[in-house]
Amino acid sequence: EFINEKKLNIRYFHTENGGKQRAYNFGVEKAEGELFICLDSDDEYVETGLETILKYWEKYEKNARFVSDYGKELIEWLNPKKDEYILDLGCGDGVLTKEISKYRCKVLGLDGSQKFVEATRKLGVDAIQGDAQNMNFENEFDAIFSNAALHWMTNPDKVLEGVAKALKKGGRFVVEMGCKGNVEKIENAMFEVAKRHNFKAVKCWFFPTEKEETELLNKYGLKVKRMISFSRPTLLPTGIKGWLQTFSAPAFVNIPKEMHEKLIDEIAEKVEKELEKNENGQIIADYVRLRFEAVKE
Ligand code: BEZ
Repeated sequence: EFINEKKLNIRYFHTENGGKQRAYNFGVEKAEGELFICLDSDDEYVETGLETILKYWEKYEKNARFVSDYGKELIEWLNPKKDEYILDLGCGDGVLTKEISKYRCKVLGLDGSQKFVEATRKLGVDAIQGDAQNMNFENEFDAIFSNAALHWMTNPDKVLEGVAKALKKGGRFVVEMGCKGNVEKIENAMFEVAKRHNFKAVKCWFFPTEKEETELLNKYGLKVKRMISFSRPTLLPTGIKGWLQTFSAPAFVNIPKEMHEKLIDEIAEKVEKELEKNENGQIIADYVRLRFEAVKE
């Protein structure tokens, strides 16, 4: 009956049984469109399933889209040239990776999250899942680009060692990341509120000063060509709670999930008093950026 109604384009593929994960990978390859759902034959589909997924997707879109909007300026620093081979380190949902590919260069996205890798591939760009702190490329790329990703990697030595090895001689490393002082009030409040409840938040972000980053780059033979740091007061489209729901989870990994909402409420209450607001009363976060281009000697 469901098939006869033809409301959905149902296609059947027969393949040897290789287990659930292989079936999922196969399904993901065949899926079309930006959003899709994979269900196993013994999964129960609850009536509001699609609405729930859509709700989470819209939340991500609203809370995190500004990340790639700002990143477009960084592509001007990268100045991609035709036929270059460029790595997008921490490519996220692939929006900027796709933008770079429009310069008729070859681009590879790399991200720790398989979900983001799949999102990037859906945009028609090549991407692989991997840890940027454990890369194994050698003299492959003309340039490595990274927007708002490096501060999630708490072992910068490992990242830069891999970057230096992966670049060709003369290759460019073009980065924007959080600088010392970035989201400082929010981060302090996260630690303070967790402590108030006898929990310890995990330090999951690395925000270096210009000097610290320069020294690190030098250590791996990456010579700074230009570097700037600047504050970028950033309007949080869905408020501080939306931001915390999207970005604070890694800091709270050791804290029971049922506590997270309470912590977020208390952090929001604290920083709402401390952060600036625009004329409509919306919170402006204390973002500070570090942007640089370094070249492999
Ligand atoms: C940032 O882009 O500066 C950032 C994003 C999420 C968490 C912390 C910092």
